[in-house]
Amino acid sequence: MISKIAVLGAGTMGIGIAEVAAAHGCQVKLFDINQTLIKTAIDGLSARLDKRIDKGKINISDKKSLLQNITAVDELSKLKGCELVIEAVLEKLSVKQNLFKQLEQICGEQTMLASNTSSISITAIAACLQHPERVLGLHFFNPAPIMKLVEVIAGVKTEQNVLAQATELVTAWGKVAAQAQSTPGFIVNRVARPFYGEALKIYQEQMADIQTIDTCMQDAAGFRMGPFRLMDLIGIDVNFPVSKTVYHAMYEDPRYRPSLLPSEMGAAG
Ligand SMILES: NC(=O)c1ccc[n+]([C@@H]2O[C@H](COP(=O)([O-])OP(=O)(O)OC[C@H]3O[C@@H](n4cnc5c(N)ncnc54)[C@H](O)[C@@H]3O)[C@@H](O)[C@H]2O)c1
Repeated sequence: MISKIAVLGAGTMGIGIAEVAAAHGCQVKLFDINQTLIKTAIDGLSARLDKRIDKGKINISDKKSLLQNITAVDELSKLKGCELVIEAVLEKLSVKQNLFKQLEQICGEQTMLASNTSSISITAIAACLQHPERVLGLHFFNPAPIMKLVEVIAGVKTEQNVLAQATELVTAWGKVAAQAQSTPGFIVNRVARPFYGEALKIYQEQMADIQTIDTCMQDAAGFRMGPFRLMDLIGIDVNFPVSKTVYHAMYEDPRYRPSLLPSEMGAAG
C-alpha cells in the first residue's frame, strides 16, 4: 500500500489531509509556497492534538508519532520519491496546472497526482501533462480528519488502476470513498450549490433572518449545520469561487447562478 505522501498547501485542507495520512502511519511531506504558513499549520495541529490528549482520546506517544510522520519541505524537488501527491492549494486552474507540470519533472511516472479541488475539472488539470492517466481528484471535506467522505474523481484519461489504488488507500484511512466523474462540482458541491443559493435568496427577499434559516435546516431538516454556518466554516473566499466555477462550467444554467451577496462580502474581505 502507498505510504509516501506529499501534501501541497498547508492551509485548512492541506494540514487536515496531512494529519489523516500521518495518523495512519504514512510519511507525509508538507509543502507550501509560504514557509511561515507550514509552521503555523503544524503548531495549530499540535495544539489540536493536545486538546485530544486532555480529553483522553489519544496519548502523548500518539501525538509524537503523528507529528514525526510530517516533514515540512521548502522545495518541490524534495518531493522526489513520493508515491502520491495530494494538492490542496489555491482554487485556480493555472496554479494547479503549473504545480503539476513541475511535479511531472520531479516525480517518477508512477507517482499518482491528486487534486483536492472543489470544482475544477480534473480532466483540465491533467490536460497539460505528459501522463494525464495518473491524475485524479481526491476531494476531502472540511474538516478532513472528521469528515468521512472522500470523492475519488476520474478525469477522462485517468487509469482505472490509479482510482483503485487511491480508493484502497483512503478506505484504509477510515474514509468512505465515493466514485465520481469529473463534472462541475462533482457530486456534493453540485448538489450543495442550490442549498446555499436558495438560503441566500430567502435572506435577500427578507423572508427570514440568517439564524432562522440555519435553525430550520439544522433542527428540522437534520443537517449538521445550516447553510450560513457552513459557508462561514468553508470561507466565503473558498466557497464563492466554487459557485462561479460550477455556474460557468454548466454554461450559465440559471439554476446555478451565484448570489451577489457573497460576491460583495468577498470584495469587502
Ligand atoms: N475549505 C474547504 O472547505 C474546502 C473543502 C474541500 C476542498 N477544498 C479545496 O482545497 C483547496 C485548498 O483549500 P483551503 O481551504 O485549504 O485553502 P487555504 O487558503 O486554507 O490554503 C491554501 C494554501 O495553499 C498555499 N498555496 C497557494 N498557492 C500555492 C502554490 N503555488 N504552491 C504551494 N502552496 C500554495 C497557500 O499559501 C495556503 O497555505 C482548494 O482547491 C479548495 O477548493 C476546500
